[in-house]
Amino acid sequence: MTKRLLQLCRLIPPNGNGFADVGTDHGFVPVWLANHGYSGRIYAFDIAEAPLNKAISLAREHMVDDRICFSVSDGLDACPPGLVDCIMIAGLGGDAICRILDRAEWILDRGYTLILQPMTHAEVVRYWLIHNGFRITTEALVSEDRHIYQFFTARAGNCGAVSDAEYCTGIIHADHIGEDISILYSDLMHRIEQKLVGMRRADQVDSSTFRFYAGIKQELEKLSAGPFTTAAEQD
Ligand SMILES: C[S@@+](CC[C@H](N)C(=O)[O-])C[C@H]1O[C@@H](n2cnc3c(N)ncnc32)[C@H](O)[C@@H]1O
Repeated sequence: MTKRLLQLCRLIPPNGNGFADVGTDHGFVPVWLANHGYSGRIYAFDIAEAPLNKAISLAREHMVDDRICFSVSDGLDACPPGLVDCIMIAGLGGDAICRILDRAEWILDRGYTLILQPMTHAEVVRYWLIHNGFRITTEALVSEDRHIYQFFTARAGNCGAVSDAEYCTGIIHADHIGEDISILYSDLMHRIEQKLVGMRRADQVDSSTFRFYAGIKQELEKLSAGPFTTAAEQD
């Protein structure tokens, strides 16, 4: 199992009543969960039949197919709201994750834990969460194959003020200090610099969008220089 998949598994609360993996594809996470003593219900959803069949085959190989409910589902459409308390959406783009969350209004009403790992536009997902009554409860980073992955969990609640750069990076805790956070900062700064270069070429340096990204880049430069706050300092 890859470092990224293992990190996803580690974020799942072990004593939950029900877990849903949306966009399960290979099915590694639900199969891992069934193999590791999770006693709640396990649902595996995918929008397409072919990936779901891969997940079913893997579960059969591990003899846990009777522990997992598999369904073709666009996002959370087939998910029974009262039977899960943890929802994972991983490996999809940030915009797709927000579309799935937007279509499942019921997640706003109950005590769900969301585990999200967007492949792109993590800032859009954090913005969605914070503007829809969620608090980000865990942030994690994994670097693998020259790629830096951002993971976060969220539950209903209020988040304090979040800066534009923090939407991109997450609120950095002391336990993030290390190689992975440096990779994240340089990755984000590179992406933003590319945007700024494009906008300079297009003669858009006076636009509010240019100022917005230039501000984020400046903030990222400061953040990457430290000092870092500790989790305790933020409470
Ligand atoms: C790149 S795979 C990610 C698999 C796994 N979650 C992971 O993190 O490794 C994305 C999967 O999401 C599925 N998918 C895309 N849009 C979806 C949607 N709206 N609802 C459910 N599944 C979706 C795709 O069919 C594909 O199997």
